[in-house]
Amino acid sequence: MKRIAIFASGSGSNAQKIIEYFAEAENTEVSLVLSNNENAFVLERASSLNIPAYVFDRQLFYETEQVHDILRDIGIDFIVLAGFMWLVPQNILSHWAGRIINIHPALLPKFGGKGMYGDKVHKAVIDAGEKETGITIHYVNEKYDEGEIIFQEAFKILPKDTPESIAEKIHVLEHKHFPAVIGQLVDKLDQE
Ligand code: GAR
Repeated sequence: MKRIAIFASGSGSNAQKIIEYFAEAENTEVSLVLSNNENAFVLERASSLNIPAYVFDRQLFYETEQVHDILRDIGIDFIVLAGFMWLVPQNILSHWAGRIINIHPALLPKFGGKGMYGDKVHKAVIDAGEKETGITIHYVNEKYDEGEIIFQEAFKILPKDTPESIAEKIHVLEHKHFPAVIGQLVDKLDQE
């Protein structure tokens, strides 16, 4: 059995799609949802889908081994950031090297970096007069949104688009592709 952990800070619609996708899988499961936000809606989603959840604060995450140890003790093979807004500390990056991915709601390397999340990204894309936007799935390293790109899909921006309408289209694309890309990467772990 391959075990996935999902880190999320907010609503968790991607986390839910990923959990549902792997609920059907024979050899992969989402074993844990982790959040830095005790009020995040993702925790309610995890609870209704019967997935254990764990909440941590900044001090615990960056100054102790606790999150690392929990992931190791459960036997987590693969880590997914789905709307998670903090950098991952070095102890976790090292242990799961090449096995941590993130989704970003724009076409990296443009419109990434610290503070670029959610509607701020879509507003920046519109303000820059971009003709298209899309989603990026990439490996995670010690910098915001700079790891190697795994997958992108773009769509045209229409004159009537707003940050809200773009966010909706982005979510549709994310929900369609993120679980399947994770599945492909987890299947490849067997061949390593
Ligand atoms: C997603 O659109 C994801 O791409 C974005 O946060 C949203 C979370 O939605 N991530 C970032 O902006 C990271 N910089 P969700 O909570 O409904 O899955």
